[in-house]
Amino acid sequence: MKPSAASPLREIENLFEAHGSLIYGESVNQIQHALQCATFAQQQGASDSLIVAALLHDVGHMMHRDAAAALAAGNDDVHEKLGAKFLAQWFGPEVTQPVALHVQAKRYLCCREPLYNLHLSAISRKTLAIQGGAMTIEQAEAFETQPHWPEAVLLRRWDDLGKQESMETISWQDAMSMAVSCVSPT
Ligand SMILES: [Fe+2]
Repeated sequence: MKPSAASPLREIENLFEAHGSLIYGESVNQIQHALQCATFAQQQGASDSLIVAALLHDVGHMMHRDAAAALAAGNDDVHEKLGAKFLAQWFGPEVTQPVALHVQAKRYLCCREPLYNLHLSAISRKTLAIQGGAMTIEQAEAFETQPHWPEAVLLRRWDDLGKQESMETISWQDAMSMAVSCVSPT
């Protein structure tokens, strides 16, 4: 996955080139996780912009100077905010908002679906506590007023699934071509 010098998204590709082999969770690295999430989105008929959001939702982890140390120390790396702000250089809210809300969506699902957290990975359960735990009913109702919240919930479910030891995914090149096609005109 050599970044193309001509790509308008070269800066994003450089991040994956530099940090994409970092282990994301139990069995996948950042690139595999990104491609698996995008593939689940595509398989479920998501729009191109939501597939791109799924692909890029964790770029903030790779921007954080030491996400693993933050986790070990019990600190929230606020990767969803870092990532959404970074991606806003190229994409509109249809991409950035589901990214910005995907951590809140986990807290939301823990409130609305009491059995949801049984399926979370060990790391997701650990970060849930750091991120504030399950939402209250009032917080969940407020979450449902935010633009693109249903897309954030969909993204969250793909995020939880995208940790497969072995899975055929869309190619990096196809994924980045789709991302380029979703760049907002400036
Ligand atoms: Fe993720």
